[in-house]
Amino acid sequence: MQSDNPEDQKSTEGMVDYNRNSAAQQQIIDSQAMQIRGLVEKVSNIGTEFRIVDYGCGPGISTINVMRPAIEACRSAHPGEKIAACHADQPGNDWNTLFGLVSGPSGYLNGTENVRTEAAIGSFYKQMAAENSVSLGTCFAASHWFSRALHLYAPNTVWFADLEGEARAEMAAFARQDWLTFLRCRALELHPGGYLLVSTLGSVPDAQEKNGFAASGRGIYRALQVVAREMADEGLINGEILDNFVFSLWFMSEDEARDPLKQDPELSKAFEIDTLKVEPAPLHQADLFADSIGDPVEYARLYTGYVRAFADSTLRKQLFEPSTNSAEDADRLADEFFHRLDGLYRKFLDKYAFEIWHLTVVLRRR
Ligand SMILES: C[S@@+](CC[C@H](N)C(=O)[O-])C[C@H]1O[C@@H](n2cnc3c(N)ncnc32)[C@H](O)[C@@H]1O
Repeated sequence: MQSDNPEDQKSTEGMVDYNRNSAAQQQIIDSQAMQIRGLVEKVSNIGTEFRIVDYGCGPGISTINVMRPAIEACRSAHPGEKIAACHADQPGNDWNTLFGLVSGPSGYLNGTENVRTEAAIGSFYKQMAAENSVSLGTCFAASHWFSRALHLYAPNTVWFADLEGEARAEMAAFARQDWLTFLRCRALELHPGGYLLVSTLGSVPDAQEKNGFAASGRGIYRALQVVAREMADEGLINGEILDNFVFSLWFMSEDEARDPLKQDPELSKAFEIDTLKVEPAPLHQADLFADSIGDPVEYARLYTGYVRAFADSTLRKQLFEPSTNSAEDADRLADEFFHRLDGLYRKFLDKYAFEIWHLTVVLRRR
């Protein structure tokens, strides 16, 4: 049986082989290094230390690539300032790998002084740092995940952007409330003059789509739906469970991201909007793995690896385990699912390509 306790159903714990399969996430961070440096330079009213918190930091490389430019910029813009580098994520994050990297040869602790590194463990939908203690908050490729798994009747799709009617309205309201909660928590933690940078996948207007928006990853999620439906039709996955399953995430449009910042009195008072935009990814916007399309086996391998890294834990907890009686059977279902996904990509190639639009939100704490 699936638990209804949200603590048992975090939307993303246990990402699989994340460091090797996070090309899109790393592309976002690489494209934001200049932005991070610029924001560090603009921070004012620093307290006893310049504290950077990377929310939803994940298990390694990306969060190091966030901290490094921030620390370098802080050294030159605020010389002599003590720095605290805080990595914030859920209990199930691979903390050992992360702190091995932080202090390893390519980590940012190497040869630096006055940098205190720390972890904050919990949910970014709750307060994760002391009030007024954060100079720069960052959150990459994480804020689209909901605070808990949402179950609603969605018989024809596993993802938000293809929902219609009441189901879509329910999910949109949930997403809005989570975004509001996320921002309220950050408003408490940032000190006046501090900045928040949120960067993740977004949606753009598209009249061809039934809901009027093209959301990042539409190809991927439609491929997942094809495989899940096929396995349910063959009796391998419980059809009723599939009918009530959707990935608990939402890629916001510009208006959806801006709306609570304008409408909510607490937030409009707390934050000044510096940047808020959704734009095509700078590289490989139409197909993340376009460079490999000439080699269908490699192309399919890359897509399957990428998708499994972020989707395996969700599918396992919410679809495979509730459809079976044992962990071994759930493992077999997971292997079968990703084997079929690999076959789908080999056969249909870029029909299910990953299109990418980046949402960037930069806020200054008043
Ligand atoms: C796709 S990974 C992104 C990791 C890293 N920021 C990057 O850009 O590569 C999403 C991360 O967000 C974390 N996450 C998701 N929901 C969270 C929550 N409510 N609170 C804290 N972290 C969360 C997951 O545990 C995961 O490490």
